[in-house]
Amino acid sequence: MIKKQPTMISISPDQIQAQDRYKLATGSVIPRPIALVSTLSNEGVPNLSPYSFFTVAAYSPLILVFFPLHFKKGEELKDTAKNMFQNGECVIHITTEEMAEKANVTSGLYEYGKNEFEISGFTPIPSDIVKPFRVKEAPVQFEGKLYKHVPIGDGLGSSDAFFVEVVRAHFDEAVFDDFKVKAKVLNPISRLAGMSWGKLGDVFELMRPEV
Ligand SMILES: Cc1cc2nc3c(=O)[nH]c(=O)nc-3n(C[C@H](O)[C@H](O)[C@H](O)COP(=O)(O)O)c2cc1C
Repeated sequence: MIKKQPTMISISPDQIQAQDRYKLATGSVIPRPIALVSTLSNEGVPNLSPYSFFTVAAYSPLILVFFPLHFKKGEELKDTAKNMFQNGECVIHITTEEMAEKANVTSGLYEYGKNEFEISGFTPIPSDIVKPFRVKEAPVQFEGKLYKHVPIGDGLGSSDAFFVEVVRAHFDEAVFDDFKVKAKVLNPISRLAGMSWGKLGDVFELMRPEV
């Protein structure tokens, strides 16, 4: 099951416990940027939660993807997923160091129907195109509509992939320079394993090889 070589530990993921797969995935795939996702139920209750299983999937069209895991042994959907299934609209914000503490507050497992804007103190502002609110404190805000949903696995550790097409993007002018986003000014944070988070750290440049 676990084959130990002199310097490497080699593991077949399907032969270990789900909790251990979680630990090695979240400990290895680091740093993960944190999407702070705003959604709205069809009853009009806002929801806000962080998701670090998150990346950009394409830029023509501009597609972001995030993955709410199924919890309670894979039987229950997170509120964000419920709202995405209801109306497919969200606003994805890049979480910055200044936003970290409040973003962490939004990650509590509050019951469906609780407004995490009120609980965390983030300020809701209207979006241009979608119904969910934007987070005023976020320097980068992507209004999005569901492009494609892909269910992944079943049981503990399974998830939904929500591919979201960005229909409007908003940038604090301090971070925006002719479509380039100033990393140091944005000051994004990341998720590592467990309770650990990361800061941006040193930035360096490498030229691409000429082939
Ligand atoms: C920084 C951070 C990143 C997280 N990333 C994810 C993730 O990618 N997928 C996930 O299912 N839960 C993730 N969580 C946990 C959810 O945010 C948490 O379960 C939250 O309560 C879900 O809220 P909701 O039910 O209102 O959508 C993360 C939590 C934190 C603090």
